[in-house]
Amino acid sequence: DDSSPKGPFVPTQADYQKVYDAIASRLADETDYDDGSYGPVLVRLAWHASGTYDKETGTGGSNGATMRFAPESDHGANAGLKTARDFLEPIKAQFPWITYSDLWTLGGACAIQEASGPTIPWRPGREDRDVAACTPDGRLPDAAKDQRHVRDIFSRMGFDDREMVALIGAHALGRCHTDRSGFDGPWNFSPTLFTNEFFRLLVEEKWTQKKWNGPTQFTDKTTGTLMMLPTDMALVKDKGFKKHVERYAKDNDVFFKEFSDVFVKLLELGVPFKTEDRFVFKTSE
Ligand code: HEM
Repeated sequence: DDSSPKGPFVPTQADYQKVYDAIASRLADETDYDDGSYGPVLVRLAWHASGTYDKETGTGGSNGATMRFAPESDHGANAGLKTARDFLEPIKAQFPWITYSDLWTLGGACAIQEASGPTIPWRPGREDRDVAACTPDGRLPDAAKDQRHVRDIFSRMGFDDREMVALIGAHALGRCHTDRSGFDGPWNFSPTLFTNEFFRLLVEEKWTQKKWNGPTQFTDKTTGTLMMLPTDMALVKDKGFKKHVERYAKDNDVFFKEFSDVFVKLLELGVPFKTEDRFVFKTSE
């Protein structure tokens, strides 16, 4: 008898792996962008969706995907992230059952794994919210500032010094764009590969202030083509931060392990999960 009502579709790990695979294959196909990959901007979308979390009020975070709406989409820090949201639209159309909030965070996890980064265990359960849940402007870090600001912003999310440094190591990926943030250039020579290069260069290279009309940023002495933000330089100016920079510069495995743990934590801030179990997705190839 097939008259029994069908329950709602409950996706399994295999269904989420299909979403992962679709994102990975789109990343592999769409190489006519920046340094050849949308991966870095997907990581930035996942981070800016999550980094609005405020532990005191429990507001913000990846649950909600409120960056779909103005005013949050228009916050200065989110300039350029429409590119990442648009990249994921065909995936949402193919798997309409996934929420934007789950999709954006899964996109970040996928992009890191596909860039040869660490495994990012991920779990579903985020729900999309409406425009009323948009966070106020000013919750994401300002790259022009110093270590005090970095600590203020990341401790509001609930992170300690070690976790802050590990997270910012994601600047191994991607680049700055003058038409988005005002800053310019990549942090290293392989901006589509996830490595500890950011830390190695921070420690080993000599950085001088760039001579230009743009905002204050730093240039490597050896080639003059790489960059560091003022907040990146704060990680070696501050003793509490620097010891972690040195640990990560020395040991890529330690960086991978600690980055994975803290990135998982970032993507889960403020989410009322119903499941403890995380999925480990199979990377392409
Ligand atoms: C790019 C600032 C932390 C991931 C950028 C850009 C700025 C910035 C100004 C350039 C945006 C553009 O012009 O396109 C900061 C500051 C941070 C911080 C001030 C903290 C003090 C993080 C964290 C992550 C992250 C925690 C991830 C875990 C990225 C990635 C890009 C990026 C992947 C490259 C995006 C692309 O290539 O389009 N960040 N960031 N950042 N950021 Fe951060």
